[in-house]
Amino acid sequence: MPKVNTKKVSWEEVESWSRIVSDKILESGWRPDVIIAISRGGYVPARLICDRLVVGELVSLQVSHWPSAAQIAKEAGVKYPLECDLNHKRALIVDDIADTGESIIIAKDHIWTKCKPDELRVATLQWISTSSKIKPDYYAEEVKEWVWYQYPWTRLEDIIGFFKRIVSEEKENESWDLETLAGRFPEWFGVTFDRWYYERALSYLVSTGFFVKEGDMYRRVSK
Ligand code: ADE
Repeated sequence: MPKVNTKKVSWEEVESWSRIVSDKILESGWRPDVIIAISRGGYVPARLICDRLVVGELVSLQVSHWPSAAQIAKEAGVKYPLECDLNHKRALIVDDIADTGESIIIAKDHIWTKCKPDELRVATLQWISTSSKIKPDYYAEEVKEWVWYQYPWTRLEDIIGFFKRIVSEEKENESWDLETLAGRFPEWFGVTFDRWYYERALSYLVSTGFFVKEGDMYRRVSK
């Protein structure tokens, strides 16, 4: 078993899950007038569901997570408040995953109070039923054991995070080359990626000062 249970998601799966969610909405007989994508994870599923339901109105709301004063847990909040009037409209919030459910709870609350739709429902691709404080009205998959869904739209971002995690926890190794670092992926995450992503992630981490490049080696800059 890898240290972090990770599922590498393909575009085909995204397409198929979006179709399942759309079918469930259609079968329920309910029709949204407007779709609200939670930024950024909800963008791609929202656009696909928009098409599959033939909905012409798509807006988005960014819910961000930033470190709280205590620097332990992250607090979530609306970054750019929505100023829209959804009176007489049925609205559907779309996100990729309901994990803690925090983003969805914040988005729902914000939309109810600011935009006042007639009805507001929620759709996600995944619902982690053992950790989410909210159950989406529509979802493609119920997940009972926590998994990190490595969606195609966070591929590089996640690999950057994965690199940081490995290097921070395997402190005995001060300098890494690409092959050694990439070779840790099966043990850590149970998945691997194209070399392009590893190269991009490393040059990003050099540009931010996380690594210093010395020949073929990347040395962690101690803080
Ligand atoms: N964002 C929040 N929780 C997540 C998870 N379990 N997988 C992918 N993205 C997430």
